[in-house]
Amino acid sequence: MTQNKPKLLIIEDDVGLQKQLRWSLDAYDVVVAGDRESALALLRRHEPAVVTMDLGLPPDPDGATEGLATLQSILALAPDTKVIVLTGNQDHANAVKAIGMGAYDFHQKPCDQEVLNLVVQRAFFLHSLQHENRRMMQSQADSPMSGVISRDPGMLKVCRSIEKVAPTSASVMLLGESGTGKEVLARALHQLSPRATNRFMAINCAAIPENLLESELFGYEKGAFTGAAKQTKGKVELASGGTFFLDEVGDLPMALQAKLLRFLQERVVERIGGHDEIPVDVRVICATHRNLKELAQSGRFREDLYYRLSEIVVTIPPLRVRDGDAALLAHHFKNKFCAMESRPTLHFSPEALAAIEAYAWPGNVREMENYIKRAVIMADGSAIQAEDLGLDVEAEEQPINLRQIRDEAEYKALVKALARSDGNIVKASEALGISRPTMYDLMARHAIKGTNA
Ligand SMILES: Nc1ncnc2c1ncn2[C@@H]1O[C@H](COP(=O)(O)OP(=O)(O)OP(=O)(O)O)[C@@H](O)[C@H]1O
Ligand SMILES: [Mg+2]
Repeated sequence: MTQNKPKLLIIEDDVGLQKQLRWSLDAYDVVVAGDRESALALLRRHEPAVVTMDLGLPPDPDGATEGLATLQSILALAPDTKVIVLTGNQDHANAVKAIGMGAYDFHQKPCDQEVLNLVVQRAFFLHSLQHENRRMMQSQADSPMSGVISRDPGMLKVCRSIEKVAPTSASVMLLGESGTGKEVLARALHQLSPRATNRFMAINCAAIPENLLESELFGYEKGAFTGAAKQTKGKVELASGGTFFLDEVGDLPMALQAKLLRFLQERVVERIGGHDEIPVDVRVICATHRNLKELAQSGRFREDLYYRLSEIVVTIPPLRVRDGDAALLAHHFKNKFCAMESRPTLHFSPEALAAIEAYAWPGNVREMENYIKRAVIMADGSAIQAEDLGLDVEAEEQPINLRQIRDEAEYKALVKALARSDGNIVKASEALGISRPTMYDLMARHAIKGTNA
């Protein structure tokens, strides 16, 4: 059962001490290296958050040259690693030097088991705090509004519209294919509205049988029908003061369309079996993946209701037309599910990323979420391969005429490279084969903001 233990790298050339340390630190999934080369190989392979190291390593077991050089290589390769230096009594000067070079802490040999465990534990804690902190900062930069990850200009425009309409009382209709984030945006709108401290109530008209929908929406009085044992408020009434989200409103049966319209006009509800008109103040947001205008024109949806519900219409673009978002979301979900499964963070192989970008994602973000979750579970080793995703991708890429749309292509290339490198500007510029200053110039010209410095 080493799987859920955090990985700890011990660098120690003395076999006796190796054993002793392994034994003292058995709360961790320990890997041991005896020299610089194997230490770096294990670091690359396991990415341990914490390393303990002896400064006296071969070929300089009595000095500290090799130990300090190893420390330097570790921090160059993985700067966030917390390195705890274990030193002999007479080695104080080198221990201080190591701290100056970026070691996290030092500890005197022979080691007190309890103290060493505490030091190691604290190092892991600090590492995870820093990691979480970075993740939050990063997700904010990639997140134009609560719950929404995107850098696509079309989606950013959608977010701006949501921000604009949030403070008003206008009814908002969210249109978009399934899985594009209609509910996420409805919630974000509620959060940004003056009603945020009150309830957000959602009802999915497609998921509830027609005969139950009315009582779900408007509630009922005791004895209104068989089984109506006590007075029950409907979702509309429960949302009072807050926001009421009608999902899949295109599936609302005609009879209920009339009742909903009446509510929107009069702003009162009448529970089934009741005689009182109860005033209710709610903001209505609705969503559908259907073409509601067409349904209205062909008489399958009340036109008057359509106009009431659609004071503001926001159309959410499908994932396949969002620039760079597929890779960006894939990274986001990968990191999220790795954390949830307590797996060390995996990365995508280049083929896996290419497949993610080439796939059309008919089920949009929801489909992506499911695929990445499965891939995180299926992946062996430290990378998610294209096979782990199991995407059915067409071999041929869509040709782009670069000459005609040069500027647009440049913009797209930048956004995509940044998304693929998870926001790392240096990596993105390398991938594009341009210098870092050129990358910054181009980003400034296209008004693209970076996440990482
Ligand atoms: N831009 C986004 N960033 C991060 N997560 C997202 C984004 N858009 C959607 N999601 C996630 O994808 C899933 C589907 O989103 P949501 O339920 O809002 O979509 P929907 O359009 O209502 O889908 P459906 O038509 O299936 O009801 C949710 O788990 C949501 O958290
Ligand atoms: Mg939904």
